[in-house]
Amino acid sequence: MTGFDALRARLVRDYEKKTPGSRRIFRRAEKVMVAGGSHTIRLWRPYPFFTAAAEGARVRDVDGNSYIDYWQGHYANILGHEPRPLRRGLTASLARGAMHTGFEAAGQIELAETLVRALGGRGAKVRFTTSGTLATMYAVMMAQGLTGRDLVLKVGGGWHGASPYLLKGVKFRPGLGFESSESAGLLDDIVRRTLVTRFNDVEDLSRVMAEHGDRLACLIVEPFLGVGGFLAATPEYLETARRLTRERGVILIFDEIISGYRFRPGGVQTFYGIRPDLTTLGKIIGGGHAVAAVVGPRELMDECEHGRGGGARVYFEGGTFSAHAEYMKAGLVMLGELAGRAATLYPRIGALGERLRRGIEEAFAKEGIEARATGDGNAAIPGSSLFMTHFPRRPGLACDRPDDLHDPDRSDLRMREDLLKLALLVNGVNVVHGGGAVSAAHGSKDIAATIAAYAEAARLFRKYLG
Ligand SMILES: Cc1ncc(COP(=O)(O)O)c(C=O)c1O
Repeated sequence: MTGFDALRARLVRDYEKKTPGSRRIFRRAEKVMVAGGSHTIRLWRPYPFFTAAAEGARVRDVDGNSYIDYWQGHYANILGHEPRPLRRGLTASLARGAMHTGFEAAGQIELAETLVRALGGRGAKVRFTTSGTLATMYAVMMAQGLTGRDLVLKVGGGWHGASPYLLKGVKFRPGLGFESSESAGLLDDIVRRTLVTRFNDVEDLSRVMAEHGDRLACLIVEPFLGVGGFLAATPEYLETARRLTRERGVILIFDEIISGYRFRPGGVQTFYGIRPDLTTLGKIIGGGHAVAAVVGPRELMDECEHGRGGGARVYFEGGTFSAHAEYMKAGLVMLGELAGRAATLYPRIGALGERLRRGIEEAFAKEGIEARATGDGNAAIPGSSLFMTHFPRRPGLACDRPDDLHDPDRSDLRMREDLLKLALLVNGVNVVHGGGAVSAAHGSKDIAATIAAYAEAARLFRKYLG
């Protein structure tokens, strides 16, 4: 048995010992649900814990174990789990009646106005959707419809949800890099028409733009790359993207579904002073509910209006639960809280993020293991509450591009995704991709306890992996 297998077996044993109730529930779930649940990222091996309650920085499972949680609702819960202002606001509106009606309600206007003020500038408009996947899908459809062009450009490692146009170049595959499709069932034509460029690589972007610019409908990019590695775009990269897309008539879409309201009220784009043509938002803006949005200038957004352009208009209709009154209310309470607390909240969670990132690196360094924690801000972004841990296979690997972080020959992905996950769970900390997001509910004690859990993981890694 290798050291890796021995350590994994020990961690699984320890995890199973503390979570027998979750194990039983999972066996039941597996019989009726695909892979035993509703989202792959929540279904780690040997099985996920099932939650009984969550509050603030912590989540409790059905066996009574408490975990400091950095997953925080797929990074949506910037105020922590079940924050009091939201509970208060929603209890009051539920008491008045807040179920789905299928009619337009005025609450959505205020949320749209808030987003426009923060992001779109004068004359911008909003359309709400119920998931980030839909928002990015519609944004791409809009770009194709408005430009009459058929190619879509995204970056390797960029995750924008599971719409057909964007299910390419998410996972790194040896031999193919970020050049492969993520799913069966996609039309070859769509896969071929989605091009992939390297994040933060001005030269590669310039090359693709020179070769394909006049056929490109859009470039979609996260100004702070999320799943791809928690990496901030360089100002030069975004400036180049803005300039080249403008020159070539390509629609620039900033996907701010993670970064929106994560670093300041509004988008991270305002730190760079760069305005894209369309912005997609989600996660935090729903106050824990299913709200996402496309925001853009009136001239573009109005092209989706019913009756425009006959059958040729972009078919960006709503769905059954679009702008659900309760969700809109939750979003408004959340954004109101963030606006009121921004001056202290963002610097505080940024400082805690910084302590975590450096604390994790030091904890592993003490055991002679090189670990790199990404998620830092940069010249444009003053601080960051995000962190992700990586184990480079070569000393001094730059770790500043998705390729470095997702190529199994360059970073040890099993150590990050499998061993570290379990080692932290048995020590009372929940992370995803070796990290997550600090919320306003996390305190100094949580950060110290988290670094201690990483230090314990590092000792185990040293002991078993040598
Ligand atoms: C940057 C980004 N865009 C889009 C999405 C898709 O959003 P949703 O999961 O709400 O469909 C995600 C989800 O994690 C995301 O991180």
